[in-house]
Amino acid sequence: MATTNILGPARSRVDGPLKVTGRAKYAVEFVVPQCSYAWPVESNIAKGKITAIDSKAAQAAPGVLKILTHENAPKIKKASGGMMKGIPGEQRNPLSDDEVYYAGQYVALVVARTIEQARYAASLVRVSYAPEEPLLNMEDAEHKAKKPKKNNDEHVQLTKGDVESALQNHDLVRLEQTYYTPTETHNPIEMSGTIAQWDGDKKLNVWDATQFVKGVQNLLAESFDLEVENVRVVSPFVGGAFGCKGATWPHVLLAAMAAKATGTPVKFHLPRKLMFTGTGHRTPTRQTLTMAATTDGKLQAIRHVSDTLTSPVAEFTESCGARSTGLMYACPAIRVEETVFPVNIATPTFMRAPGECPGTFALECALDELSYLLQMDPVQLRLTNHADNHPTKDVPFSAKHLKEAYQLGAEKFGWSKREAMHSKMRDGNLLVGWGMATATYPAHKMSAAAKATLRADGSALVQCATHDLGTGAYTAFTQISSEQLGVPFEKVTFELGKSDFPFGPVAGGSNSTGTVGTAIHEVALLLHGALADLAIADSKSSLHGAKKDDIAMVVPGRIGFKNDSAKSDSYTDILRRAGKDAIAVESKLGAPEENKKLAFQSWGAQFCEVKIDPLLPRVQVTRFVSVINGGRIVNEKTARSQIMGGVVMGIGMALTEETAYDPKTGMPVTANLADYHVPTNADIPPIEVHFVGEPDFAFNPIGARGLGEIGITGTAAAVANAVYHATGKRVRDLPITPDKLM
Ligand code: MOS
Repeated sequence: MATTNILGPARSRVDGPLKVTGRAKYAVEFVVPQCSYAWPVESNIAKGKITAIDSKAAQAAPGVLKILTHENAPKIKKASGGMMKGIPGEQRNPLSDDEVYYAGQYVALVVARTIEQARYAASLVRVSYAPEEPLLNMEDAEHKAKKPKKNNDEHVQLTKGDVESALQNHDLVRLEQTYYTPTETHNPIEMSGTIAQWDGDKKLNVWDATQFVKGVQNLLAESFDLEVENVRVVSPFVGGAFGCKGATWPHVLLAAMAAKATGTPVKFHLPRKLMFTGTGHRTPTRQTLTMAATTDGKLQAIRHVSDTLTSPVAEFTESCGARSTGLMYACPAIRVEETVFPVNIATPTFMRAPGECPGTFALECALDELSYLLQMDPVQLRLTNHADNHPTKDVPFSAKHLKEAYQLGAEKFGWSKREAMHSKMRDGNLLVGWGMATATYPAHKMSAAAKATLRADGSALVQCATHDLGTGAYTAFTQISSEQLGVPFEKVTFELGKSDFPFGPVAGGSNSTGTVGTAIHEVALLLHGALADLAIADSKSSLHGAKKDDIAMVVPGRIGFKNDSAKSDSYTDILRRAGKDAIAVESKLGAPEENKKLAFQSWGAQFCEVKIDPLLPRVQVTRFVSVINGGRIVNEKTARSQIMGGVVMGIGMALTEETAYDPKTGMPVTANLADYHVPTNADIPPIEVHFVGEPDFAFNPIGARGLGEIGITGTAAAVANAVYHATGKRVRDLPITPDKLM
């Protein structure tokens, strides 16, 4: 089961020069003439009704064009959206009534000539409320709790075998613990923002920082009752997203409403503070893991009960149990229960590996605890319970190479030198701890289409309404286009980020490389077919009169007979003889082929070393090794960066990140980068990334399963497990701040 050559060339980013020279234009950097600026007024209560809005002073302030409230805002329709049609961030339209559902909700919007004028005028708006008692935590919202059946079409309440009787079997080793993760907030460098410009009543141009241009397009068309093609959304570069730009949030609708109401283009660019209420966050979680295993480490039962929050204006489930315990280990009895509590706090959303990330924290810490009870090596415990088949779907996993990941990770890390007992390893005065965890993330398949134009000079242009969130997608798609079309890398241009292009799905669920890669594969076949048509009809071609089905690309730049590749013709000769400057083809948007006989999932092994000064127990991560099995790796360099980024974010989750709320108002009190602590360079050690496995051609013709999210999974558990190994202290509530180790 050796690793085959899965690494694509480590190309540097094709958009790198544009970015480092400042020529890459992000959504709100587009210059739209006569643009005005929006600044919101936010509710400072968590629940209640607006009784009055006094905007006289604000209206009289310099530069003010309009103040929108629920009393005068343009009425728009409630768009339903869908996975292919846009994801509404909230079920309620902004400024649609006098209700307040959470602190930070937009209750008015000032539009002025300059951003300073808008901000100043917003400070003058006086809003009166009839406050009601808000629900701010799980205990408050107990009576409103729901157990959703499904999340994105996947079951979230799972039952397999007889969990209860296994848990009562006294011959088994049993463990039960509860783990907590706090609210975490995405903090991309580029804050969300939208410019909306009406062209008459029926056409709308939008520049938006988004993971889903087609979704924004469709939701705006639905909301404002426009023809879809009359809404144009542009988003060529995105400065990080992590999930917070996947849904269409109220500010996008408000920008378009304000532009309509003022008759000017309007820019609504969120300041950092509003990123904590206006574009989602990761819900806090409470997860209780109960497991029973034989004395030689065979799991007999796992129960994973997870509790998470949502808001009154959204349905969101952070599916912790189903997306970890539901699929990670072979076990005869599995039970997953997920409960969602609606509270009067701003709406949560997907954040890098929603479900898997907190889910693997709880499960992988519990397994570590079990390893000490069993006196068994943590890697050995996982190997003992390795799942060849999906444990709750009971079909084999495709191209799963997790055992190799453990093995290579252990080797690179030097795991065999680990002291089995905790609190035994030292480096001078420092306590040293080694911990590990499993990483996992599903391979999601969505639908996309692409357009390819081949020019007589041998260059090609490929277009799809997909996205590059800073991940390297431009580069990976250029590489895939080059390989699939058979055109040199330097001669391919790949364009994305425009709703005018053929459909691209949300850049979420780590699906883009595989999904758009498949669309590129399909459009390449169409292009070769179009070239074949020309050659077959051309008496000067060596393919003249051939059957189209017998012809395919035989080497880059040439089509020829599949069974006799010596008979071939070059793209440029075919076009030249046909007297064409270029030919263009576009693939059709279809439903993705589903293979129900296999389960598609990516895997990895995370190994972490920490060092801790016992007198001031601040955790320093000093080494990290991540070994990933994600199918074929299109670009070794950008793929490595994706995994490193995930690990960095996981270290932040483990040690520093927490959005704290005022317990009275439900308003975030850490709504800036000074109080919300993301890791800096000084917090991050060298991160070693390796890839194992084989191309997963059962999944798609590119063989790639996607890498955006898996890097964060298991990471926080590996850190927490290392902290226990160093200190003998088990911290079950993140982040692991020094006070918890005193
Ligand atoms: Mo990712 S959290 O699916 O954008």
